[in-house]
Amino acid sequence: MDAIEIVGGNQLQGEIEISGAKNAALPMMAASLLIPGETRIKNVPRLRDVETMLELLNLLGVEGGYDDHSLRLDASRIASTEAPYDLVRQMRASIYVLGPLLARLGHARVSLPGGCAWGPRPVDLHIKGMERLGAEISLEHGYIVAAAPNGLRGARIAFDISSVGATGNVMMAAALARGTTRVENAACEPDIVALADFLNAAGARITGHGTKLIEIEGVSSLRAIEFTNIPDRIETGTFLVAGAIAGGDIVCTHARPDHLTHVLSRLRDMGCDISVEADRIRLRAGSPLQSVDVTTEAYPGFPTDLQAQFMALLAVARGTAVIVETIYSDRFTHVPELERLGAHITLRGNVATVRGVESLQGTRVMSTDIRASSALILAGLVAQGTTTVSRVYHIDRGYEAIERKLSGVGALIRRIRLDDPLA
Ligand code: UD1
Repeated sequence: MDAIEIVGGNQLQGEIEISGAKNAALPMMAASLLIPGETRIKNVPRLRDVETMLELLNLLGVEGGYDDHSLRLDASRIASTEAPYDLVRQMRASIYVLGPLLARLGHARVSLPGGCAWGPRPVDLHIKGMERLGAEISLEHGYIVAAAPNGLRGARIAFDISSVGATGNVMMAAALARGTTRVENAACEPDIVALADFLNAAGARITGHGTKLIEIEGVSSLRAIEFTNIPDRIETGTFLVAGAIAGGDIVCTHARPDHLTHVLSRLRDMGCDISVEADRIRLRAGSPLQSVDVTTEAYPGFPTDLQAQFMALLAVARGTAVIVETIYSDRFTHVPELERLGAHITLRGNVATVRGVESLQGTRVMSTDIRASSALILAGLVAQGTTTVSRVYHIDRGYEAIERKLSGVGALIRRIRLDDPLA
């Protein structure tokens, strides 16, 4: 089992190239199911989650794969409409194939994903969305069985919660439905905007993406395209925190500063000096770092996917910070691990209070999900001595070559093999 070992204390300096966004690439890949031809997606990160989606698409009959950082996906022929439990349980985003399969073939059988590391994550909004578009849905033996023998038809869909996944799934299904679909309280995340841009480039008629009201006028077919994915804002935010926590001067290149407005302003509030150009963000760490409060919210608010990383940063800031998690009320599995490194955190419900300490001390910790793993690596950059983060398969799901990117700017970090079978 691989682990990441970090020797803390080095300042970071230099440039880090940001990879393509995982959470935009995954729905675009699923959207290739709508297109009877060869789609090319450029700027795709090399990640386990992308490989899982690729495995699923290949199983459904899509031909193609990686070509360096591009994907070639030919969905001229679809051989199966079933997304099996074995793949869906590895990656919940597999549910993105539901909408495209229904729209293109009129039926789909997609496993329910089950819970995730930090608690329940329902998919009821995806199901409701498909039902509103005219699909008949039943739950059978852990599977969503969906059928629309006469095709999907446009509808008004008002989500009571803003959901990235459900908005994306509905957009893909409605792209080929008869008539117009109106999605109210739609997610505004850049990943959704990128998916809409991708679909429109293929011939879809989507307007309003990036706002809470999206309209999709169905078309009869989509055509093959080449499309460039957006940069990963969560990876960017993670490396900015790395610069801040390790007292660095780093530049994230190939980035989109406009996707991180809220995060940049929190880092400035903490005392970091940040300057932006079109696709570059430079951060010079503040010293000392000042605590700030953080509340996670749907975009353009502070992203839940950066909550764990900011908790690591606030653990060594001056003062006390209150972190309120409003998207996933129990997304705190990183708390006991950060405490093992010496952080002072009190958890009550969805509120974590972080009292900054002078220093953290390296030890062995265990990652529990993608973002928790990166938070532990960030803490390891500043902890005294050696921090070993086990179960790094979580990090490989969402960060491309994180140890190479961090060592490139001066971190003492390497991948090691742990013989311990329980690691
Ligand atoms: C996506 C991201 C994930 C991020 C999350 C929130 C991908 C592949 N993953 O996940 O990294 O943490 O957005 O920004 O893009 N909900 C329901 N019913 C549903 C669906 C969602 O109640 O059917 C709730 C969720 O429990 C959560 C909230 O809606 O409280 C937002 O979740 P959602 O935006 O759907 O997250 P994902 O698309 O799964």
